[in-house]
Amino acid sequence: MSEPRRIPIIVFGVGNVGRAFVSQLTQTRRTLAQRYGVDLQPVALGDSSGMMFDPAGLSAEALASVIEAKNSRRKIGTLPGALAGIAPREFVDHAAAQGVPHAIVVDITAIDGMDVPLRRALEVGYSVVMANKRPLAGPWEQARIFFESTRSGYEATVGAGLPVISTLRYLVDTGDEVHRIEGALSGTLGFLCSRLEDGEPFSTAVLAAKAKGYTEPDPRDDLSGMDVARKALILARLAGWPLEPDQIRVDPLYPAEMASLSVDEFMTQLPRLDSDFAAYMGALVGVPRYLAEINPSGGVVALRMVGERTAAQLRGTLNQVSFFTSRYAEHSLSVLGPGAGVEVTASAVLQDCLLRAQHNV
Ligand SMILES: NC(=O)c1ccc[n+]([C@@H]2O[C@H](COP(=O)([O-])OP(=O)(O)OC[C@H]3O[C@@H](n4cnc5c(N)ncnc54)[C@H](OP(=O)(O)O)[C@@H]3O)[C@@H](O)[C@H]2O)c1
Repeated sequence: MSEPRRIPIIVFGVGNVGRAFVSQLTQTRRTLAQRYGVDLQPVALGDSSGMMFDPAGLSAEALASVIEAKNSRRKIGTLPGALAGIAPREFVDHAAAQGVPHAIVVDITAIDGMDVPLRRALEVGYSVVMANKRPLAGPWEQARIFFESTRSGYEATVGAGLPVISTLRYLVDTGDEVHRIEGALSGTLGFLCSRLEDGEPFSTAVLAAKAKGYTEPDPRDDLSGMDVARKALILARLAGWPLEPDQIRVDPLYPAEMASLSVDEFMTQLPRLDSDFAAYMGALVGVPRYLAEINPSGGVVALRMVGERTAAQLRGTLNQVSFFTSRYAEHSLSVLGPGAGVEVTASAVLQDCLLRAQHNV
């Protein structure tokens, strides 16, 4: 049997999802090489402080030392042999100059500005895989290459491990016409809405979500609706509608004057919102859910009141995305399931790497 093709993997971001990705890759690498003839070999792992890099492939010891450092909250840039302080854009050029061929660059950070190194990666002939939504959700001119290139994957950005992106891609690729997309795209806001439905005050529901680790460190990142708006924009663009970010109207769950508070001040002032939410819910019929509605001319992400049957399908952190198309006209095509979680998100990233390795490299 011939040797498997070596596919170098460069990982930006070794946080919760990044560590799970490295662990899943380590566990499955040999089986995938035997089954598909491609050896996904980590050559670089990086965080905000630098990169651990070996163009010939990181040894098991080097991988373990990075994971151990990140588990104990130490920075990669402090480890012996690491490239301290190198920025992602600079690193892509460095890897190409070192002769690393046909790599897959994986973005598992949560930062702005990664579109620049990822575009550079495509320019030097690499493939890119994203769990980070931001490179896909900026101005269309900066993001379009990731939607147009066949060397780009981003399954984990919507619905975490659920096959949302691949389902929409299959509809579009086979010539179906998508008319609109609806969904509950945030596990965090789903959890919050279920608590509100059970009669809990808004502030204690937010505190419970934070305590369970469902929210970002600053819960306003979820409560602003921006995370859902980014997902809505990604779905719109993949559906073939090149919308700009301001064409997705976002309904935040807190007033504008609370945007400038510190996280602690915001959390302290949350109970101020309880009576408003109670009055809002008392005045309307139905059950609250934070939903996205997207069509070719724009989208809205907002708190809606839905019927009990719909609400029952969307309890807790479940996500649901429904595609209304020419072929799925009478009944939409829906994907439903847990839309968050470190392991399921990491597995979507790994599956994207495998697809890129098989088809693009
Ligand atoms: N958790 C989920 O269920 C889920 C689902 C779908 C998508 N996602 C997405 O997956 C991504 C990662 O989430 P997470 O929970 O793993 O985040 P996280 O734990 O905060 O990890 C982020 C990682 O990015 C690194 N980073 C920051 N700036 C960097 C830079 N300039 N260069 C290289 N690395 C840099 C951080 O480094 P430091 O350690 O030095 O800070 C950290 O290792 C996010 O975009 C998130 O939205 C998560």
